[in-house]
Amino acid sequence: MRVLLFTGKGGVGKTTVAAATGAKIASRGSKTLVLSCDPAHSLADALAVPLGPEPLEVAPALFAMQVDTQRRFELRWAQVQRYLAGLFARGGVDPLQAEELTVLPGADEVLALLELRDQAASGRWDALVVDCAPTAETLRLLALPEALSWYMERVFPTHRRVLRGLRLTRLGGPALPGDAVLDAIGALHEELAEVRRLLAEPAVTSVRLVLTPESVVVAESRRTLTSLALYGYRVDAVLANRVFPAGGGDPWLASWARSQQAQLAEVRASFGDIPVRTLGYRAEEPVGLAALLEVAAELYGPDDPLGPAGEVGPAGELGPAGAMGTAGELVTVEADGDGYLLQVALPLAGRDGVALARSGDDLVLTVDGHRRMLSLPSVLRRCRVDGARLAGGRLAVRFTPDPAQWPAR
Ligand SMILES: Nc1ncnc2c1ncn2[C@@H]1O[C@H](COP(=O)(O)OP(=O)(O)OP(=O)(O)O)[C@@H](O)[C@H]1O
Ligand SMILES: [Mg+2]
Repeated sequence: MRVLLFTGKGGVGKTTVAAATGAKIASRGSKTLVLSCDPAHSLADALAVPLGPEPLEVAPALFAMQVDTQRRFELRWAQVQRYLAGLFARGGVDPLQAEELTVLPGADEVLALLELRDQAASGRWDALVVDCAPTAETLRLLALPEALSWYMERVFPTHRRVLRGLRLTRLGGPALPGDAVLDAIGALHEELAEVRRLLAEPAVTSVRLVLTPESVVVAESRRTLTSLALYGYRVDAVLANRVFPAGGGDPWLASWARSQQAQLAEVRASFGDIPVRTLGYRAEEPVGLAALLEVAAELYGPDDPLGPAGEVGPAGELGPAGAMGTAGELVTVEADGDGYLLQVALPLAGRDGVALARSGDDLVLTVDGHRRMLSLPSVLRRCRVDGARLAGGRLAVRFTPDPAQWPAR
């Protein structure tokens, strides 16, 4: 099974190309589900078919659905969040950890991830095509399983113990949650960890970055690529949409075409090995199956719209399925003289936007406001950070053994 995620700035054509890609995959005989997390129902508009919260067959082998944001679930999640925030306040948790909690996104994203997991686990599909929200929300969504994991593994067990103790000594009062709440949160954590494993598996999941050849959009897309790499997601294509035809007598159009070509050149240069596919600005909105198949034909030509599956990285090499293990090829550790070199692929990151800190057994990496906690393999836990360098799209962090942390011989 493959999972394709489509993201990009608002309005660039994510829904259109996601639907077109799904239609093309299905037309080649793979059972495909196009899943939209956008409450605005634009997937239904693009396919010109009303959609609901269950997969609906819109053409042979092509199914589509609209994830229902379910008010009820949202309310319940809001309760859980309020409870967690209160817990933090009472527990005197340090600000770094408290901040991790506040970045947890809302119910829509959680629900979309759980739906994705259920559909993937159902075994019904050869391909899952996900029409994601604009970039910022998508990044929060993709960071969620790991952020929550980090929280669950570090903070939650302690609180659970403390709470049990408080209940036993009857000091807590009615504000303490029952085990049912804790169990529910634990189960949610498990499910989200499963989604994370699915999404961070390069042989299964890839992201397609949709953009229009305009400077503002290209700049945002470059930042998105860096952030996706930070979280360990593989981008397998850049889709440039609404490209004006070159030539013609109209000076206004010719000027646009020239500036777009310059932007496209910039895109091709800066996105390195990632293939860039283009789609022309069409005379009318591509709505309905026939138009979408034309769009896909222009984008993919004779190529397989699923694209080649990525190499399976050395996932797990760095320890149990923690944050680092799942990042696969994006994070590596190698011996380097008397120490170690940890390298993180961060294409396009400028040194201004990158910050690095050590927090106990974690390396806290912040890139353009997006934070990732890399849990260090045990060999690095007994080392100290000796310096870091950003070059050639990789951040290299040097670790040297810290004598204070090794048992005396
Ligand atoms: N190549 C194209 N030529 C002409 N019209 C297009 C093209 N691509 C997309 N459109 C139209 O542009 C509009 C926006 O496209 P779409 O809904 O796919 O964007 P989106 O990125 O999903 O937007 P949102 O961020 O709101 O979800 C739609 O009306 C769509 O039909
Ligand atoms: Mg859309």
